[in-house]
Amino acid sequence: MTDSLRTALPSLNSPPGDRLEIVTSWNADVPYQSWRPQILVPPTFRPAEPPRVFVVANQKGGAGKTTTTVELAAAWAAAGYRVRVIDGDHQEAALSAWLLPQYPETGERHSLRSVFFEDCTLTEATYPTLFAGVDMVPSGTDLQRVEYERPIGAEQALAAALAQEAEEAGGRSPYDVTLIDGAPSLGLVTVAALTAADEALVPIKVGGLDMKGMASLHRTIRSVQRKTNPKLRVGAVLLTAWDKSGFARQLAAKVSEDYPEAAVIPIRRSIRAAEAPLAEQPIRLYAPEAAPAGDYDQAAAVILPAKEAAA
Ligand SMILES: Nc1ncnc2c1ncn2[C@@H]1O[C@H](COP(=O)(O)OP(=O)(O)O)[C@@H](O)[C@H]1O
Ligand SMILES: [Mg+2]
Repeated sequence: MTDSLRTALPSLNSPPGDRLEIVTSWNADVPYQSWRPQILVPPTFRPAEPPRVFVVANQKGGAGKTTTTVELAAAWAAAGYRVRVIDGDHQEAALSAWLLPQYPETGERHSLRSVFFEDCTLTEATYPTLFAGVDMVPSGTDLQRVEYERPIGAEQALAAALAQEAEEAGGRSPYDVTLIDGAPSLGLVTVAALTAADEALVPIKVGGLDMKGMASLHRTIRSVQRKTNPKLRVGAVLLTAWDKSGFARQLAAKVSEDYPEAAVIPIRRSIRAAEAPLAEQPIRLYAPEAAPAGDYDQAAAVILPAKEAAA
C-alpha cells in the first residue's frame, strides 16, 4: 500500500490553556478544590531516544493498554517517526480490530503467533495500517497457542526477532518506535514482550486500581530485569480515564513512590476515547479536540521527544 493512500496523522493545536502543566514534584499542600491534573517528570527521569521498543504492560484488563498503544503510536507518527505496533493480546485482539492491518490480496496472512513459531520473520508479519507512519503486527486468538504449546525459546523469541530484523536492515531497526500492546496476563507472551523491550509503559485506570495486581506487575518487571532483560526500565505510568477525585491524587502519589524514575502522566476521561475504536480511528483523528488526544500528545513528547525538540 502506498503512503499516498494512507491517512496522515496531523499534529494537534490544542490551546495552551488546555494543556497539562509539567512539574518535577507533587505539591501536597494544594487544596483539593484548586487541584489540577499535572504531568510529573521527576529529576531522575530520562527521555527515550529512537530506535526504542516499548511494551505497554498491565495484566489487568481495561487498564487502557490498547488505547495508550494506539494514541502514542499516532502521536509519534505525527511527529515524523516510523512506528510499528505489535498486538500482544490474544484475548481481545482489540488493537488489530482498531487499526485494521492491510493484508495483500494474495498470499498467507501472518501474525505474531507465526513469529513465535518461527513460521515467518517479524518483517513478514508486519502490515501497513490505514494511517501513514504506523505499521502493525496483528494477532488473533491463535496467539494463545504460545501459552500452552510453549515453543522453545519463546521468552527470547521477540527479542531475537527484533535483533534479526535490525541486523538485516543494516544494524538499526527499520522502525524508530516499536510499541507492544500487552496481554491481560503475566503469561509467556507478556514475559517475551518485557524481555524484548527497552522500556515499559504502565497504564493504570483511575478507579480500577488493584493493589495486588500492581504488586505482581512490579514483581514480574523486577524478575525480568534480573533474569532476561537487565536494561528494562519503567519510563512512564499513565493514569487513564482520569477524573478529579481525592483518590486520583492518592494514586498519583503511590505510583511515583513505586516507580521513582518514571514520568507520571494523567490521561483525562472522555467518552470520545471509548468511541474511537468503533470508528476505527485513533482518538487523535476521531476527536482531536478531546482531552485524551491532547494528553497523549503531551505524554508522547515527554517519553520520546520529537526530532526537532531533541536536537
Ligand atoms: N481516557 C479515557 N477516557 C474514557 N474511556 C477510556 C479512556 N481510556 C480508555 N478508555 C476506555 O476504557 C476501556 C478499556 O481501555 P483499553 O485501552 O481497551 O484497555 P486494555 O487494553 O488495558 O484492556 C475501553 O472501552 C476504552 O475505550
Ligand atoms: Mg487491550
